[in-house]
Amino acid sequence: ALQLTLAVIKPDAIAHPLMSEALHQTILDNNFAIVRCKDLVWRKQDSERFYAEHSDRFFYQRLVEFMSSGPMRAYILAREDAIRHWRDLMGPTKVFQARYTSPASIRARFGLTDTRNTTHGSDSIESALREIHFFFPDFNVEQWIEKE
Ligand code: CMP
Repeated sequence: ALQLTLAVIKPDAIAHPLMSEALHQTILDNNFAIVRCKDLVWRKQDSERFYAEHSDRFFYQRLVEFMSSGPMRAYILAREDAIRHWRDLMGPTKVFQARYTSPASIRARFGLTDTRNTTHGSDSIESALREIHFFFPDFNVEQWIEKE
């Protein structure tokens, strides 16, 4: 069955036009349908709210600053098993782990640091619903699924 996921190209990758173009092409090459796509800039409080579950972690402040540091691009992507496929394409969160275990992955190829790691993807059906709503409050998931 078709599944939706929320994918983000983070400010480090959007800052480089060739990289955002390459990532867009990677999405298309991997049989995702782009359901929605928009460019946006977060205020610091958007960043804090989105990553609230990490507020106790040592990297929270730098993550919040980074994610509100410039433009990014959010996608709603559809595919069977979209959540897992997008996460496989990204590779592990930590760049050096990504380079070691999945050298062909997006984060291995383009990631700068564990924070500036190019992309985000929902990690479960529940987080996909939450994150789609966070980025695209007007998008109605149930309605979209019924039409498919
Ligand atoms: P993301 O998939 O957006 O989810 C949480 C983010 O926190 C993650 O990608 C990284 O950008 C950041 N992050 C996770 N772990 C670390 C870490 N160990 N050090 C720095 N940043 C991290």
